[in-house]
Amino acid sequence: MQSVLDYLQKNQSRFLAELCEYLRFASVSAQPKHKPDVQACAAWLVAHCRQIGLDARLCETPGHPIVVAKTPNAAPRTPGKKPARKHFVVYGHYDVQPPEPLELWQSPPFEPRIEGPIIYARGSTDDKGQNFAHLKAVEAYLKTGTPLPCDLTLVLEGEEEVGSESLGGFLKEHRRELDCDAVVISDTGMPSLKHPALTYGLRGMMAFEITLHGPARDLHSGVFGGAVENPAMALARLLARVRDDRGRVTIPGFYDDVKPLSKFERQQAARYPVTDAQLKKLLGVPQLFGEHGFTPTEQRSARPTFEINGLTSGYQGEGSKTIIPAWARAKITCRLVPNQDPKHVRQVVTNYLKKICPPTMRLEITAGHGAEAYQVSPTGPLAQAALRALESAFSAKPILIREGGSIPIVNEFKRILGADSLLLGLGLPDDNAHSPNEKFHLGCFEKGQRMSALLWQELTR
Ligand code: BES
Ligand code: MN
Ligand code: MN
Repeated sequence: MQSVLDYLQKNQSRFLAELCEYLRFASVSAQPKHKPDVQACAAWLVAHCRQIGLDARLCETPGHPIVVAKTPNAAPRTPGKKPARKHFVVYGHYDVQPPEPLELWQSPPFEPRIEGPIIYARGSTDDKGQNFAHLKAVEAYLKTGTPLPCDLTLVLEGEEEVGSESLGGFLKEHRRELDCDAVVISDTGMPSLKHPALTYGLRGMMAFEITLHGPARDLHSGVFGGAVENPAMALARLLARVRDDRGRVTIPGFYDDVKPLSKFERQQAARYPVTDAQLKKLLGVPQLFGEHGFTPTEQRSARPTFEINGLTSGYQGEGSKTIIPAWARAKITCRLVPNQDPKHVRQVVTNYLKKICPPTMRLEITAGHGAEAYQVSPTGPLAQAALRALESAFSAKPILIREGGSIPIVNEFKRILGADSLLLGLGLPDDNAHSPNEKFHLGCFEKGQRMSALLWQELTR
């Protein structure tokens, strides 16, 4: 094992240069113009995995390709028989969020910049830097000739940021090959380098768009204003009725199935080592806001929300244009917590919006993706092994956290493969995921590699 850890230590500068290569691909899954970059990134990954000594292949899908890389000489797995060795799937994604608004970046998003212990680039923390740490740990085993105590299959997809459309089908098709003892994922966060964390819960989501249609075309607001309802105004009024002043969603039935926080969970949340004042400063808000009766940590990880992600209507260009817009649209996602069914939430939200839509408007609702929240035992043997690996890699006591983000595919790992997911995040709260100037701390990168290397030992102990 020592030679694995030594190898990691000795090769950090090369690893960093390779991470820069990985980050130079503009693998933006949401934007069709970047399709060639997404494909080139996948091809680069396959070549890189082969160079490390993995059996790697590129799997085409109706969307973006999936990269599958396996450690050589895997023990055969025949149904009904207990395999000779354990098998773990390492999941990550090589696609990234759109980099816009570009003018807010201090250096171009796809030209990695290193400043002290930090690397800046789109995808650095979400999720290329995190999954690359696992790749480097496997490399250390293979290149030092150290036998791995288990078999590993890395699954790196290119559609996570757009809802993982193709991965569910892929899992079903390759159920046998991907049959495993657990899925290991580094695509979440930890509060600080002194507080490595095991995430035992994620929120789910329910996405949709609503459009209010008013007049048949944009109208002169002087000539007709006053006699017709303005769709932008109607939408603002409609959305304002969805939540009260105390941060509670007013939609009947919205909280129907919400599982209350247990005492244990409230205790864990209270131990989250970021103060409200620090959070306020980090986010740049004059004041925090959230549902009464819950702490900010609880509000952003264990309570459901209704959020407007985008709001569009009327003239957005330079100068003014005096019109009554023909329509107004909002992109909305609700975050869900354990026990909430995305279908039920979609139903109660749709019913309410239809009920309160004024007769002056035609309401159109378009459904987006839905996913249940995820929870895994924070005290089971998998979690215990992960906590030991975190503790020795980071030389600090790890904590248990629930997080507010979503990785919808973890539910499919459970349903299709029957496997729990171990969420071992390497991102820091100020990493700017999905924002301009996304970054990744090289301390997280290096300790993440150690954690990964140690994890395979702990999981097979
Ligand atoms: N890595 C994030 C999810 C995440 C981040 C979980 C931080 C916990 C803590 C992932 O890439 C992501 O952004 N997921 C999307 C969901 C998807 C359906 C677009 C999200 O949470 O908005
Ligand atoms: Mn991610
Ligand atoms: Mn993301």
